[in-house]
Amino acid sequence: MTVDYSSKVYWEDRLSRESAADGFEWLVPSDVLIPVVHAALPDARGTRPLNLLHFGCGTSSLGIDVQHHLGGGVRVVDSDYASSALRDTQLDQVPLMEMDMLSLPSLLKHMPPDGWDVLLDKSTADAISCGPAIPATDTALDRRVDAIEHLCHNAARVTRVGGRWICASYSSSRFDFLRSSPERPDRPTTYGWRIIDKVALVRHATKTSADQQVVYHPETGIWAWVLERE
Ligand SMILES: C[S@@+](CC[C@H](N)C(=O)[O-])C[C@H]1O[C@@H](n2cnc3c(N)ncnc32)[C@H](O)[C@@H]1O
Repeated sequence: MTVDYSSKVYWEDRLSRESAADGFEWLVPSDVLIPVVHAALPDARGTRPLNLLHFGCGTSSLGIDVQHHLGGGVRVVDSDYASSALRDTQLDQVPLMEMDMLSLPSLLKHMPPDGWDVLLDKSTADAISCGPAIPATDTALDRRVDAIEHLCHNAARVTRVGGRWICASYSSSRFDFLRSSPERPDRPTTYGWRIIDKVALVRHATKTSADQQVVYHPETGIWAWVLERE
């Protein structure tokens, strides 16, 4: 049976079971990603802490771990559209809010006055990208767009200029569409994001059958994409 990773019903069911079993971590543990998050933080504005939204948190401890690591320099909020399925164990450590990244009203409801300084996701953009294209009638855009494009559009609306989005993904091409391409004139926009880095967190080794030599396949691994709000 194929799994629909873009289905809220699927995630509500799965997260309620994971939550009872004390969690599940997708792609990489926090300590692999935290140095990239640390290095990618935008300049602080004044003396206030940076507002960081960890979206699609599931049962991951990443938001809590980032808060512990960065201390008072950031104020982390965990969020998920299936948050009701999650146990509130985070409550005393970081707030947990219900937000659907494909619903702009849901995001605007919880946005800080100046917008988020940092967005962080680990395989949530991956899950969202499994969904069907979204009709123009359901977006603020004038044409049908892929779910990942709709995510970029919404994320830009709630992030301040100069803010950063760190996205851990299994895809080495997750945001390639943000690069303007003459072959895709139907995708002329960056949705307000500029790719500033792409860090290999894990590279999967494969062995050639001929001589059993270990080679590294650049397209297979886990990546941290760093985007900046233009
Ligand atoms: C692959 S899991 C990753 C969970 C967690 N980030 C981790 O690394 O363990 C994808 C998560 O994204 C959430 N999600 C999927 N679509 C979403 C959406 N439109 N808005 C908010 N969360 C969403 C799911 O509920 C699920 O928790």
